[in-house]
Amino acid sequence: MNYSSHACNINTPFVTLNCNSILIKACIFDLDGVIVDTAHYHFLAWRKLAKEIGINLTEADNERLKGVSRMRSLEIILELGGVSLSEHDKENMANKKNTWFVDYVERMAPEEIFPGVRTLIKNLREMGIKVALASSSKNARTVVQLLHINQEFDAIVDGTMVTNSKPDPEIFLLAAKKLCVDPKDCVVFEDAEAGVEAALAAGMKCVGVGSPSQLRRANKVITKTGEFQIAELEQL
Ligand code: G6P
Ligand code: MG
Repeated sequence: MNYSSHACNINTPFVTLNCNSILIKACIFDLDGVIVDTAHYHFLAWRKLAKEIGINLTEADNERLKGVSRMRSLEIILELGGVSLSEHDKENMANKKNTWFVDYVERMAPEEIFPGVRTLIKNLREMGIKVALASSSKNARTVVQLLHINQEFDAIVDGTMVTNSKPDPEIFLLAAKKLCVDPKDCVVFEDAEAGVEAALAAGMKCVGVGSPSQLRRANKVITKTGEFQIAELEQL
């Protein structure tokens, strides 16, 4: 796929921040664990499924599931437990987990968006910085609709639109392409190790959200998305 932005004809007068000689023109946000705590709902659903097949899924193991596709997550759990299943059974298991996850999500209220995130996105856009959502989740559109933030993004890329999940850079390169912004001018916000790897592989800067020991390759790590100061984009 050609990810270059030369075919773009959007003429936005960008207000740009100088970032070590690069100009930040776009911020790309992961969803689960960055905008809302759906990462916890994924964990609860996976842990319930793992228990059913006799595997004890710990929070530490769960770090490996963050950012990767539904089927890859199941395969990691099966590897952890030394269990092998037919493709047909794997499909059934993945569907079962998704039904439980969707059950949690459908009970979610717009107030569950992390504090400060709505304001951060609004302020970025007011400065002329483009904002995209890039989530490996096939449920991402449902989640942003439930949070009433689907109109707040210049582009949304989800797990239904890519072939390779994070740590492959495909999802971020596609987001940059949709925004008509060069990957080097993008900053990604990510809570998953696989997501940090994907951002760096895309040639983007990355702000990790979570623990510095887990996200050590990110350019900067913050505890919560809402605490990020836009001026910090200049210091990445
Ligand atoms: C995100 C989450 C993963 C999840 C994946 C697929 O990347 O971080 O934990 O497995 O999306 O989500 P889905 O809703 O399609 O099962
Ligand atoms: Mg995430």
